Amino acid sequence: MAGKQITRSKSPLVVLTLLLVALSLLFFFLLSFHSDSPAPFSDGPLYPNPIYKPETSFVASLERFLLAHDSPPPTVRSRRHKPEELDDLLFKTETRRLYADPYYPLTMPIRVYVYEMPAKFTYDLLRLFISSYKDTSNLTSNGSPVHRLIEQHSIDYWLWADLLAPESERLLKSVVRVHRQEEADLFYIPFFTTISFFLMEKQQCKSLYREALKWITDQPAWNRSGGRDHILPLHHPWSFKSVRRLVKNAIWLLPDMDSTGNWYKPGQVFLEKDLILPYVANVDVCDATCISETRSKRTTLLFFRGRLKRNAGGKIRANLVAELHSAEGVFIEEGTAGEGGKAAAQNGMRKSSFCLSPAGDTPSSARLFDAIVSGCIPVIVSDELELPFEGILDYRKIALFVSSSDAVQPGWLLTYLRNISPAQIEEMRQNLAKYSRHFIYSSPAQPLGPEDLVWRMMAGKLVNIRLHTRRSQRVVKESRRICTCDCRRANSTTSGHLL
Ligand SMILES: *[C@@H]1O[C@H](CO)[C@@H](O)[C@H](O)[C@H]1NC(C)=O
Ligand SMILES: *[C@@H]1O[C@H](CO)[C@@H](O)[C@H](O)[C@H]1NC(C)=O
Ligand SMILES: *[C@@H]1O[C@H](CO)[C@@H](O)[C@H](O)[C@H]1NC(C)=O
Repeated sequence: MAGKQITRSKSPLVVLTLLLVALSLLFFFLLSFHSDSPAPFSDGPLYPNPIYKPETSFVASLERFLLAHDSPPPTVRSRRHKPEELDDLLFKTETRRLYADPYYPLTMPIRVYVYEMPAKFTYDLLRLFISSYKDTSNLTSNGSPVHRLIEQHSIDYWLWADLLAPESERLLKSVVRVHRQEEADLFYIPFFTTISFFLMEKQQCKSLYREALKWITDQPAWNRSGGRDHILPLHHPWSFKSVRRLVKNAIWLLPDMDSTGNWYKPGQVFLEKDLILPYVANVDVCDATCISETRSKRTTLLFFRGRLKRNAGGKIRANLVAELHSAEGVFIEEGTAGEGGKAAAQNGMRKSSFCLSPAGDTPSSARLFDAIVSGCIPVIVSDELELPFEGILDYRKIALFVSSSDAVQPGWLLTYLRNISPAQIEEMRQNLAKYSRHFIYSSPAQPLGPEDLVWRMMAGKLVNIRLHTRRSQRVVKESRRICTCDCRRANSTTSGHLL
């Protein structure tokens, strides 16, 4: 009786408390919604979930990630099958899907199995970066600050962090992580090839590469497919270089192609197999509001700030500088990607209509993505470049493509740019405002961000990956073994004709 009395007298209190909690939650919800900067894109809010404000800084995101993974959570480890066993199980899964799913093999979301590699290939390397990036601020490679290079190529971190995040915190619908290999469409190898290249002593790094190679090729799933359904991040052209020819069947995540042999050997990279990912931008995003505010301030016609001397295709830079340096409306400046460089590049790009994007060491360069997110229309002078997500995005709507032979003719480039109508410039700028979200990596990864587009592109590759896997499993000695597509420059007699 007494007990009942107490509960009854408590219940109005409970109701009141609940009401208060609910009200304050609502208040917080509204507050966080309003305190966000105004929705930067006209097509709906950029960040639909106000609880998780996305972090776009590599260092900040990584620090938070390492805190959360201080002692990596125990996970259900997939049983290690023999290759033939795994093959049978995958056959069963795929058969079940074929007869149950009217859209199979067009699969969405992509199911990815993330390997649990020993910490020396993963967490230890991330910790090595975090514990040393402050002291290595003066460390350079080929004239560029090393910690900035790592950041610029940190796609391996952003993709992995999204795959590892608890399902309740993930926003992408294009990919799910599976914990059993027989459920997987693709296998993700989380080896930080770029950090090891830059921060380890040369011989140590080479030996780590060999160890990683052995670990990877020992996997039953690798053995079954020859690596064809395995994803390997190699976003710096020197990453994994000493051994990567031995993993050439895998899907490489690359900054660009250049199969002339300078960086990647012909036969090791091609668009049907691999995937191009954008560099991580080094400037803040100029959103739709910023683009309309900066419209009247873009007084420079053509802007370029970067290294003026580069190797390989980057030799075009010196010629362009010679042609353009004294012209009116043109701003060209030698600069590196360091901290002071960021502000200078950001300001310059926001004050310019066009941003020159010549080939760097690779045909594309990080500057291209800085220009895109700054609302500065890229003028791409790089005959060989390949672009990220081109199965989804149309770069002609946000950039101009100029051949290097045209660009170095006296007066040609400036006449061409001055003849572009203000209406066309405005249209391209509006498209840039829409497109910039496709180039901003963040945690949590955002729908339509680069992490999301990676998986949407992968979905398009899947049928071919299976085709080549099965084909490789049944070929006999006399079969044709080499079946690849390749982009090559046309013979000089036929160049000029677009076939
Ligand atoms: C980096 O170089 C600057 C200028 O030369 C110097 O002042 C600074 O102490 C150096 N930083 C480190 C961590 O060595
Ligand atoms: C798979 O394993 C077998 C037996 O160890 C080996 O002979 C074969 O070369 C391996 N295949 C691949 C693609 O690694
Ligand atoms: C290019 O020209 C050479 C020499 O004329 C010829 O042998 C070769 O087959 C041509 N390649 C293509 C792709 O047309």
